[in-house]
Amino acid sequence: MIVSPSILSANFGYLAKDIEIVDKSEAGYVHIDVMDGVFVPNITFAFPIMKAVKEVTDKPLDVHLMIVEPQNFIKEVKKCGGDIMTVHYEACTHLHRVIQQIKAEGMKAGVAINPATPVAMLTEVINDLDVVCVMSVNPGFAAQKFIGNAVNKVKELKMLIEQKGAHALIEVDGGINAETGRLVAEAGADIVVAGNYVFSDSDPKSAISRLHSL
Ligand code: DX5
Ligand code: ZN
Repeated sequence: MIVSPSILSANFGYLAKDIEIVDKSEAGYVHIDVMDGVFVPNITFAFPIMKAVKEVTDKPLDVHLMIVEPQNFIKEVKKCGGDIMTVHYEACTHLHRVIQQIKAEGMKAGVAINPATPVAMLTEVINDLDVVCVMSVNPGFAAQKFIGNAVNKVKELKMLIEQKGAHALIEVDGGINAETGRLVAEAGADIVVAGNYVFSDSDPKSAISRLHSL
């Protein structure tokens, strides 16, 4: 299992320390939760933090944009070190175009779907995607309760990918711990995002290893 620790739950007073822990861990990516206070009822961080993280680790940045008009920030995400740029289906009127623009900028293209958004909404773009992020919480906050229906959506997404011969990786984001991580791994997930489970542990490195071994 690829693990993408969400720095939303890191200790921002000593961010470099937490990033160094992730850098030395079995994590595959670093998950950056960008929130604009419009698409979601919360505001977090973006480009200065991305640059700071990039100073500390070479691990790919898995950038999750919970913002409106994400197409306006493709160049900036790339410039600040983004490797995977994930936009929300619900925020993009012209999703097909945004995916092409992200890939033209040299990043991997991801689309996230909220709990109320059916997997089938991605049918027309699934073959263009590198990552599909199935939200297992309503976006906006860390440490929320896992929404069980995400397991069914992972299974459905896995079938769609196989039917269409697509290469997209399945990422699950929100409320992931050893138990929910196992459920989504069995359902076919390739990547789990975890914030609270990792950074609330006295030993984040071992928490990451437990998820990595799923
Ligand atoms: C929520 C974010 C998630 C969240 C994960 O809107 O997209 O990445 O930070 O945090 P946990 O693992 O604490 O649910
Ligand atoms: Zn996220």
